[in-house]
Amino acid sequence: MSDRIVPTKPHISRRAHVASFDHYQRLYRESVDDPSGFWRRQAERIDWFHPFERACEQDFDRAEVAWYLGGKLNAAFNCIDRHLVERGEQNAIVWVGDEPGTYRQITFRELHDRVGRLANVLRRHGVQKGDRVCIYLPMIPEAVYAMLACARIGAVHSVVFAGFSAESLKNRIEDADCRVVLTANEGLRGGKTIPLKQTVDQAIEDLPVRTVLVARRTDAAVPMRAGRDLWLADEMERQRAYCPVQWQDSEDPLFVLYTSGSTGKPKGQLHTTGGYLVYAGYTHQLVFDWHPGDVHFCAADIGWVTGHSYVVYGPLANGATTVLFESTPVYPDASRYWQVCDDVQAAIFYTAPTALRALLRFGDEPVKKYRRDSIRVLGSVGEPINPEVWQWYHDVVGEGRCAVVDTWWQTETGGILISALPGATPCKPGSATFPLPGVRPVLVDEHGEVLTGDGVSGNLCLAGSWPGQARTIWNDHERFRQTYFTTYPGLYFTGDGCRRDEDGYYWITGRVDDVLNVAGHRLGTAEIESALVAHEFCAEAAVVGFPHDVKGTGIQAYVIPGKAADGVPPEEIEAVLKQQVRKAIGPIATPDRIQIVPGLPKTRSGKIMRRILRKIGEANYQDLGDISTLAEPHVVELIVQGHKAAR
Ligand code: WTA
Repeated sequence: MSDRIVPTKPHISRRAHVASFDHYQRLYRESVDDPSGFWRRQAERIDWFHPFERACEQDFDRAEVAWYLGGKLNAAFNCIDRHLVERGEQNAIVWVGDEPGTYRQITFRELHDRVGRLANVLRRHGVQKGDRVCIYLPMIPEAVYAMLACARIGAVHSVVFAGFSAESLKNRIEDADCRVVLTANEGLRGGKTIPLKQTVDQAIEDLPVRTVLVARRTDAAVPMRAGRDLWLADEMERQRAYCPVQWQDSEDPLFVLYTSGSTGKPKGQLHTTGGYLVYAGYTHQLVFDWHPGDVHFCAADIGWVTGHSYVVYGPLANGATTVLFESTPVYPDASRYWQVCDDVQAAIFYTAPTALRALLRFGDEPVKKYRRDSIRVLGSVGEPINPEVWQWYHDVVGEGRCAVVDTWWQTETGGILISALPGATPCKPGSATFPLPGVRPVLVDEHGEVLTGDGVSGNLCLAGSWPGQARTIWNDHERFRQTYFTTYPGLYFTGDGCRRDEDGYYWITGRVDDVLNVAGHRLGTAEIESALVAHEFCAEAAVVGFPHDVKGTGIQAYVIPGKAADGVPPEEIEAVLKQQVRKAIGPIATPDRIQIVPGLPKTRSGKIMRRILRKIGEANYQDLGDISTLAEPHVVELIVQGHKAAR
């Protein structure tokens, strides 16, 4: 790992909210000496209809957390209405369509109009405070309108990434018991269409969904079921733009967002209104050093938490112009991001290391085709960023004059927890650097001992709550408590490994559980395994990650074929099983490699030794450890042979 220090840049420090490392340390001290005072002050950044009483109540043993108790507010009001006087004519959203050169500007005033209409459509279709609404939309303005319309009337949105399959969508709609679904006839990404409405139709066949509101993204005709399916634009046209705001309690739910864990089905992380919004606004301003007038371009999809916090809520709560990007980093070529940065004059650009690694392969030429001189801050999120990629981002994309911030956080944390601050933090490429003021990371060893001092590695936990913390898992508080609060009593356990180096810098080393981080997307090995064994060609499966040049982690599946696969050529079994996973979860979960094996390395009690499979997947055949205790030690040799042959 690189330990080179990249100093802060004076021209950035000069105007930064946090202007030096001393300043950061002072803020940090204040925040831990008096958390309640610190978070009270942060809460002033948003508008409260009724002031809160206590800043926070927390009991990690019971996994109970509440922020800004007794306060009343509305997230949509904070993202739209309160900006109307000063910035009504400023762009709230710049939509970047899939085809190069397609832009649409939506001012705060227009956003107010659109969101009001959509909120009235929802009300007209019986959506009430507390009801869940599923949003399965591509990256079009309607997706943002829908999220904010839910927030406006106190409904709870559940955005499902538009790349998930019908089966995944069905599970999520069912779990949150959504009765209204918003989708589009088709999505459009990288020049390809995605049959969203068709997927919804399949997903809800046996579900009690009463209304499907369909946005028209392409000219494609799709079947519309009378009495259930309606064109969103027609419905919005019929409604008036004025929609009263439903004042919410701080702790009223704002949204559910499903994410994968190490076991079982995806968990619906529940975020509430007051704490989440304060935290999204606070982190957006501090980490990206956002100033009024700066255009904020976060390339994440709204189907992930990054899209929630840094495309929608954080920027809009602060009154920023946010970019909504429908396309891909390589459509029509590898300069697309930089073209968009120039066209919209982005001051901030935020993406995932996997995208940067993919672009790095095309060299510097596509970057240099554009000026990028509006950019001041470059952010990275979702997985560890390799020091070389960090350096390229800094030297080539940022021409050495932009601040690079590697931001660590999770769906569960609601917003960024560990990151450099532009102009304040000297960086070490590959390290997320230091906790934000108000955040208390703790490293713990496998026995649960807290590791003090620097130069230590352990499991990353957090001591004490922060306002953006998820409050529960939808319908399963006990699972929430078990997953995050029982491994190390009194602490929130992140599932990540981490090193704090000699200088106190934090280096996230990756997941320590059975969660894979594939191209910045979280997938549970158990989910993929259960998708595989659902097919008759697969009797047993074990899934592990392996190092992948672009995705960071690739998916390797070891499969024992089922009876039905007798006589079927291995290539065909592989193809069928890949298709099976796409169908069960979605394309992002497709195994990169499937190896057909005669058996799996199991202990005598039947537990699969993933450690061995991981080593084989990394082609690290020498270092398999003691295999003599396995039930059938000879299968290991056969798997190794098969793996070598496949390479
Ligand atoms: C990983 C994404 C290293 C980590 C916001 C975490 C990172 C998981 C970083 C959460 C980073 C996220 N460096 N690893 N800067 N950011 N991760 O819920 O393993 O999709 O636990 O949230 O991504 O993924 P999630």
